Amino acid sequence: MSKQKQKVIFSGAQPTGSLTLGNYIGAIQSWKDLENEFECYYSIVDLHSLTIRHDPKKFRKACLSFLAQYLACGLDPEKNTLFYQSHVKQHTELNWILGCMTYMGELNRMTQFKEKAEKHKDNINAGLYTYPVLQVADILLYQADLVPVGEDQRQHIELTRDVAIRFNNTYGEVFTLPDIYVPKIGAKIMSLQDPESKMSKSDENVNGTIFLLDSDKDIVKKVKRSVTDSENRVAYRDEQPGVKNLLTIYSKLSDYSIEELVEKYASKGYGALKTDLAELLVETIRPIREKHNEYMDNLDYLASIYKKGAEKASIVAERTMTKVRESIGLV
Ligand code: AMP
Ligand code: TRP
Repeated sequence: MSKQKQKVIFSGAQPTGSLTLGNYIGAIQSWKDLENEFECYYSIVDLHSLTIRHDPKKFRKACLSFLAQYLACGLDPEKNTLFYQSHVKQHTELNWILGCMTYMGELNRMTQFKEKAEKHKDNINAGLYTYPVLQVADILLYQADLVPVGEDQRQHIELTRDVAIRFNNTYGEVFTLPDIYVPKIGAKIMSLQDPESKMSKSDENVNGTIFLLDSDKDIVKKVKRSVTDSENRVAYRDEQPGVKNLLTIYSKLSDYSIEELVEKYASKGYGALKTDLAELLVETIRPIREKHNEYMDNLDYLASIYKKGAEKASIVAERTMTKVRESIGLV
């Protein structure tokens, strides 16, 4: 297939704290699966992170660490365009234009905004409210066909399509309509402490979240303490959300299907399941953490990757912006 006809993939993560096991299973595993066949743009969406108050020094480090984590997870910088959103100025330009095509009614419905506003009551800023518009701009700028994300992003991808359709109907066919791409299982990894809610970077209870930079000891501790139930029967069903979550994680990181795992642990119980899963997680995460640390010792290398990424992304972004400016009549 020629490069021009290849499908385009766009996705990103906010550089807040560090990547979680939820990010890894929900998004990054898909990103890697797609890298061989498609033209992939994976961004570190640093401007999105500014919607929450931050410490500049820590933030700068987190931004670099995220690129190191992308690489350590195995994303190949030769196959993928890896870059910082803030390095490609067209994101903010398109953000403004699309903001004028997005209704307040649409933004009012966004559940991520409602959740974040609830959590940061003292800082419900305009950026938090218009955050989805910048995400729409991220995706449309690259004429993405597919957006690999976790289940929590579905509403934002639907908004992206609605805004693209509205723009195209008003000013002519400029934007490709993207489809969401979510893994069949693992699109929503749950907190180890509260299996009814999503595993999140910013959970106050750190025992609920496994981070890709956690030590071996912390990983084992978090898995061993994970909340299950009193049925003491290994089964994959909604009534046992804790065990269901552990089985999902296990299956996504191994060659075992869910059915095989249920059979394997049916007679062994939760203790054995947790012990084996903890070991699997340690073996999966340790090399990521170690590679991350090596990349962080080589900032020149990281700079060479993100500069090259921004150059490549800017060319594509400018191509779209030229069309956008013409279509809306800017001189
Ligand atoms: P974020 O950490 O919010 O920037 O998310 C980056 C990517 O990871 C997005 O595609 C999210 O949908 C995905 N993601 C975040 N948390 C989870 C989770 N607990 N389970 C599955 N996917 C997730
Ligand atoms: N909002 C996404 C999240 O919280 C991050 C994001 C920003 C994103 N722009 C994007 C994801 C574009 C996919 C495509 O996870």
